[in-house]
Amino acid sequence: MQELRVELGERSYKIIIGKGILPDIGRALRGLNPSKVALISNPKVYGLYGDRVSDSLASEGIEHHKVIIPDGERYKSLLWADFIYGELLRARLDRASIIVALGGGVVGDISGFVASTYMRGIRFIQVPTTLLAQVDSSVGGKTGVNHLLGKNMIGTFYQPSLVWIDIETLKSLPKRELIAGLAEVIKYGVIWDRGFFEFLEAERVGILSVEDDPISHIIGRSCEIKSEVVSRDERESGLRAILNFGHTIGHAIETATGYGRYLHGEAVAIGMVYESRLSDMPKDEITKIEEVISSYGLPTKIPPEIEPKALLSSMEVDKKALSGVLRFVIPKAIGSVIVEGVDRDRILSVISDR
Ligand code: NAD
Ligand code: GLY
Repeated sequence: MQELRVELGERSYKIIIGKGILPDIGRALRGLNPSKVALISNPKVYGLYGDRVSDSLASEGIEHHKVIIPDGERYKSLLWADFIYGELLRARLDRASIIVALGGGVVGDISGFVASTYMRGIRFIQVPTTLLAQVDSSVGGKTGVNHLLGKNMIGTFYQPSLVWIDIETLKSLPKRELIAGLAEVIKYGVIWDRGFFEFLEAERVGILSVEDDPISHIIGRSCEIKSEVVSRDERESGLRAILNFGHTIGHAIETATGYGRYLHGEAVAIGMVYESRLSDMPKDEITKIEEVISSYGLPTKIPPEIEPKALLSSMEVDKKALSGVLRFVIPKAIGSVIVEGVDRDRILSVISDR
C-alpha cells in the first residue's frame, strides 16, 4: 500500500493506493467520525463495487445512504446535482456528514461539487474507479458540472478529505477507458519527469496488461506529480496550467467532434502530439513523444474533416485565451514545459499538417 499526501496546510489530505482495499474503507471513514454517509455512484459501478463499500461501512456501524445517478457525462449537470441535494436532505445529512464518491470522473466531479455547496460545504472522499480518475480527477479539488453552453463551466475548488484508490477496480474497466486514462499518465512524464516517461516507454506491455507493479507505480507517480503541482498552485494562477498540456487542442477536437467520437484522453493524446510540434526541441524528441502515445494505441492525428480554421476559432473561446493570445503548454525537453503565447499563423501551420 502506498500513502501520499497533498500538502495544502489545514486542507491537506492523504491519497491511499492499494490492491483490494475497498473493504477497508469503513475503517478509514470511522477515523473521520461522520454523522452519516452518502454513497454516490452510478448503476454500473455500484453494481460492481457498491456492496464492498456498503458492507465495509455497515461493519463499522456507519449509517449510510445510497444515491445513484445515471451513467454518463450528460448527467454531470445542475439538474442531477439538484437530485443529489434532494436525496441528502431526505436522508437528513448534516454538516458532520461525509459524501463518498464511488466511480469515475463524472461521479467524482458532481459529488465534489455537491459536497462543496450542500449546507455550505461538507466533507467528501474520492474513491476513483477509472484510471483517469485515479491519476487525475480525484486529486486536486476541481469539482463541477457541465452547462449547455460549455463543459465544466460551473464548479468550485474544493479538496476531498481522502482519496482511496483500489487498483483492483481497473480489472473491470473497458480497455478503451484504460488507454484513454494512460494519455494523462504520459502527460505527467512529458511535463515533469523524463525518467517516468522512459518507464512508460519500457513497461508498455505490463501496463497494458494491468499488471499490479507497473500499474501501482504509474498511479503513485502520477498522483505524486499532480499533488506537487497542486500544492504549489491550488487555484491555477500559474504552475497548475501545465497540467493542461495537450488540452487546448484536445478540447477543441472534442468540441469539433461533438464530444461523441473521442474519449477525453484520446483527444488529449492528439492534442499532446500537435502541441509538442510547437516546441523547438530536436525533431527526434518530438517524434519520441508521438511514438510513445501511438504505442499505447492512442490516436495521434487530427481527423482530416476538421477544418484548421474552425479548430482555431474553437481554441480562441477556450478559457486559456488571455487578451486574444492563445497560450499553450509547450515541452522544452521531455520532462519540462513552459507556458507561452503562440501566434495564429504558427498554430494554423502546425494543425494543418495531417
Ligand atoms: P466516467 O466517469 O464517465 O467513466 C467512464 C465509464 O467507465 C463510465 O461508463 C463508468 O460507469 C465506467 N466505469 C467506471 N469505473 C469502472 C470500473 N472500475 N469498471 C468498469 N466500468 C467502470 O469517465 P472518466 O474518464 O473517469 O472521467 C471523465 C470526467 O472527468 C469528465 O467529466 C471530465 O470533465 C472529468 N475530469 C475532471 C478532472 C478534475 O480535475 N476534476 C480532470 C480530468 C477529467
Ligand atoms: N486536470 C487538470 C487539473 O486538475 O488542473
